[in-house]
Amino acid sequence: MQTPTRLPATVAPLLAARTPGNAGRLAVALIAAGVPAVAGAQSTLDAPENVSHGWVAAPGAVQFNFLHRFSRGPAPIHKVTNAPTFTVGVGLLPWLTLGTSYLSNSDLIPEIPNEWESFLRIAPLQQDLGAPVDVFLQGSWNGAAKSVDGSILFGRRVGRVKLVALAGVLGDAFRFGPTRALIGGGATVRLSRFIAVSGDLVSLADRAGAEKVSWSAGLQVGVKASPHSMSLHASNVAGRTLQGIARGTGRTRYGFEYTVPITLSRFFHRTSEPADGAKATPRAARTGAEKAVVIDLRNLRYSRGRVEVPVGTTVTWRNRDPLAHTVTADSGSAQPWDSGLVETERTWSLTFDAPGTFTYHCTPHPFMKGTVIVTPAGTAR
Ligand code: CU
Repeated sequence: MQTPTRLPATVAPLLAARTPGNAGRLAVALIAAGVPAVAGAQSTLDAPENVSHGWVAAPGAVQFNFLHRFSRGPAPIHKVTNAPTFTVGVGLLPWLTLGTSYLSNSDLIPEIPNEWESFLRIAPLQQDLGAPVDVFLQGSWNGAAKSVDGSILFGRRVGRVKLVALAGVLGDAFRFGPTRALIGGGATVRLSRFIAVSGDLVSLADRAGAEKVSWSAGLQVGVKASPHSMSLHASNVAGRTLQGIARGTGRTRYGFEYTVPITLSRFFHRTSEPADGAKATPRAARTGAEKAVVIDLRNLRYSRGRVEVPVGTTVTWRNRDPLAHTVTADSGSAQPWDSGLVETERTWSLTFDAPGTFTYHCTPHPFMKGTVIVTPAGTAR
């Protein structure tokens, strides 16, 4: 049995200054690192309303999205009709989410107001984690149409703009029998860290003359100091199932969405093993260290879940989220380090002066986990 080692990292709050952006270099470093996929939570700031089949839940977390749209009927009564969609997804694996959407006032099949779509989502590539693009796959069962459906979504963020493109297949389109394909695309444009505008269009590939293109347009808002985001938008479809967005209706609906990640893992959080047997050789913090690594905190995850660095490296964590995070050594460390709350756009740095494996997490969001492996000088890449 190992005795817990002293933490050989020198807490060097090099500190909470804004780092100059070197996004290009960081992106190259992330791509080169080939980091393992660790899925995060969804923010409406990254996805237009209808073409947003690309979100996955954090592993061990339950993602609850409440989408509510309403439309106004004809004069003189102007009856308001509500169409809520509840989506619950569970992050089973870092790249796998299982979930279901329920729409209580669907107009997909006129005689079936209750529409269910149960789905499996796989996220093999994510730009936040260093891949050049996002790729999300969904397979689903639509209970109203009694149809097996599937889609693939590509996304790419370039500066303030996030572009998404979607292609899908409906096994039994609208319960009429034929298999039909759909294509769509959209974008969000960040006006600030907390606000984006968005829009998207989806069409059946073989759209007949009377069939409409579906659309949405809206304002996306990150709720400051929280993991939540919301959307205010208009669309001509009631819900967001793959069948639902495939074809527009004649009615404009107005609505909102609120996203709620529920982090059950905080109740099942395992303490990590002690860092492996490195000798404790704490040294004074270096300044102007020649080796530096930057890890972004974005969408409730560390952009590089696992980094390997040579001794003497200063690792800087940079918070790109609208809420505060921490960089906190897992329990078991003899000398636990803790960044304290790192606010939006602030950074926190730590210099690692002895070899070892160090696991850490975020205190408010314990499903956020990372590992720093410090190798003896001269052995790391
Ligand atoms: Cu956090």
